[in-house]
Amino acid sequence: MLEAYNISSTVSHYAVFGNPVAHSKSPAIHQLFAEQFDLELQYQAIPVETGQFVHALTEFFSLGGKGLNITVPFKQEAYEACEILTQRARACQSVNTIWLDEQAHVNGDTTDGQGLVNDLTTNNISLQGAAVLIMGAGGTVRSILQPLLHEKPDNLTIVNRTVSKAQSLAIQFSNEGLVSACSYDDLKVKRFDLVINATSSSLQGELPPLPATILNHAAACYDLMYGDEDTVFMQWARDNGAAMVLDGLGMLVEQAAVGFSIWHGKQPDTAKVLHKLRSS
Ligand code: ATR
Repeated sequence: MLEAYNISSTVSHYAVFGNPVAHSKSPAIHQLFAEQFDLELQYQAIPVETGQFVHALTEFFSLGGKGLNITVPFKQEAYEACEILTQRARACQSVNTIWLDEQAHVNGDTTDGQGLVNDLTTNNISLQGAAVLIMGAGGTVRSILQPLLHEKPDNLTIVNRTVSKAQSLAIQFSNEGLVSACSYDDLKVKRFDLVINATSSSLQGELPPLPATILNHAAACYDLMYGDEDTVFMQWARDNGAAMVLDGLGMLVEQAAVGFSIWHGKQPDTAKVLHKLRSS
């Protein structure tokens, strides 16, 4: 399975598991973080076949691997495979960062939500007291809801084509803050300070059916996707008067930084790395 995997006894080895994963920026991000501290490490993107996740995980650590990131589509399998979970990983039922503790127990955490909150904070977008809309109700939304609610927005609405999925998430996270669910039609009478696209619609170049009236004055729009060009949602946001429009590259770097600090006990300078990625 990991035949391409070249573990060296002198250098700590890290990897991201996913499928597809060749496009992942995680190896570059972790190398750039490591350079900030003169750390020598190897970080590889490893494609894992469906049904092979647990085998690959066991093999990676038995060969001496130090830490794993997990991306689509294995975050829930990773959650199920970990022996010890952080509180937020349990709440999100998702794991994107894995390491072994001193007793060789497999530990898992999810850093996606904290990464998003950190990127919003860096961009001076305050969640406290804000009316927040999240589009989508899949695993991605599950992994960001709790950290967003902990920032105490005035209210948080989940909108989804399949409304029952949004309702089920709203019920599940109701102890964490004021969270509700609605349909895209219901949005016609609502206004928001922050709109987050956590659907996979940008991948297909599609726009969820958003009324043009939902943005408050000075509203911010955030697409969790990123690419060389604006997504259709980002274009929609600019066309409809958003004061700030962001893609998900900042969140990617920030979630990696939280993982890096778990593994290495050091806080990297994320702004430098984001700048480098954007200019490359
Ligand atoms: P992930 O794990 O990334 O969250 P997922 O579980 O497949 O992926 O969820 C994808 C989400 O994007 C869903 O909320 C989906 O809506 P449905 O549940 O109604 O299918 C949403 N989605 C995908 N394409 C969309 C589109 N073109 N417009 C609106 N929502 C879309």
